[in-house]
Amino acid sequence: MQQDMIVILDLGSEQNTLIARDIRALGVYTEIHNFDITADELAALPGVKGIILNGGPNRVVDGVSIDASSAVYESGLPLFTVDHCGKTPQDLPAWPEDEAERKAVLSKFVFDTCRAEANWNMENFIADQVELIRRQVGDKKVLLALSGGVDSSVVAALLIKAIGSQLTCVHVNHGLLRKGEPEQVVEVFQKQMGANLVYVDASERFLGKLAGVADPEKKRKIIGAEFIRVFEEEARKLSGVEFLGQGTIYPDIVESGTKTAKMVKSHHNVGGLPEDMQFELVEPLKMLFKDEVRACGVALGLPEGMVYRQPFPGPGLGVRCLGAITRERLEALRESDAILREEFAAAGLMGKVWQYFTVIPDFQSVGVRDNARCFEYPVIIRAVNTVDAMTATIERVDWALLEKITDRITHEVPGVNRVLYDLTPKPVGTIEWE
Ligand code: XMP
Repeated sequence: MQQDMIVILDLGSEQNTLIARDIRALGVYTEIHNFDITADELAALPGVKGIILNGGPNRVVDGVSIDASSAVYESGLPLFTVDHCGKTPQDLPAWPEDEAERKAVLSKFVFDTCRAEANWNMENFIADQVELIRRQVGDKKVLLALSGGVDSSVVAALLIKAIGSQLTCVHVNHGLLRKGEPEQVVEVFQKQMGANLVYVDASERFLGKLAGVADPEKKRKIIGAEFIRVFEEEARKLSGVEFLGQGTIYPDIVESGTKTAKMVKSHHNVGGLPEDMQFELVEPLKMLFKDEVRACGVALGLPEGMVYRQPFPGPGLGVRCLGAITRERLEALRESDAILREEFAAAGLMGKVWQYFTVIPDFQSVGVRDNARCFEYPVIIRAVNTVDAMTATIERVDWALLEKITDRITHEVPGVNRVLYDLTPKPVGTIEWE
């Protein structure tokens, strides 16, 4: 079904996504585009009801104030200028800081001026994407690297709904996943959703490659490169695959740069596949924000625990088992992390604290166990809150809860005799320890 759309033109604002999210929260679809959009590009966008010219501190480039193209002014569509930097070329009133006020202004423009309909919802989104995926893929085959993270899981569920058996998911267990994760991927996607799932247990291979490697960047590189190698080997075993599914989401696109935005981060979901393996990408989530991806996952029937899980780095437990990884410490890390997650969930903190995990260093200390001296590893608990992972504050975890977790870890996890709590915000500490 045709959805109404409000176009946001980026004229140097740092708040494009904020406005985009406000409008989507009103139930109206919106996309962010470059200020110099051409008449043809504008005409190619379906259902456009109005345009927001979103100016801000980056509006003046090399002393010249940038402006939208004449195509925009001649489009005949309702236009609304927003400026966030106080002094504006047209002396517009300041853009309200207050959320309710801002929403009221946007709502007036979107519904009263543009007469847009609030028809953006997950049901329509899924129906549209199923149709688009079927049109793009036809009767061809699609391959998907299914890590079990939120984005790849939601893409998998959407592709299963759209093309079912034409999809093959490959789940590579690099041995650095959290307790129960590979089992959950198999249970949900293979058993419950009936997907073609290739499960590769490459734990031994990864641990072999990582043996004796202590440098964090080297560890990351080995894990990344080996992941691609394993995935590629599996891909070569399948014949006739022309498409590659990817869990790209809207912030990946917006952050990697509209014309006035600074480059924030380059994103690679499965980057680096060899040149002779040419796939066309299927990226059905590329216009969704993270909370919308989660809502989409829930609407597709994925378990909440999978959809609302905390972020987990690609190299997994590999960057939390400090220094050269050993089986003994890796197992202690996995078990202590499982206890932490279990106790946080029981205390109602799941989904409330942004990220929490344990870290295991590569030194031991003296303790007493069963009346005898023991020389064992400590485990460090880290629990942080953040909006964008660029800065973070620590969670003030209840003392009794910390004591309970300490008791469980030191009694249930072999080889661990101390538990520490990391009190460092970011900066100066990063979220991960490596
Ligand atoms: P830092 O440690 O830089 O982490 O404060 C910020 C966020 O990024 C995650 N992180 C990673 N994610 N690959 C990933 O996919 C990585 O190599 C990686 N390193 C850190 C980290 O968990 C936190 O959420």
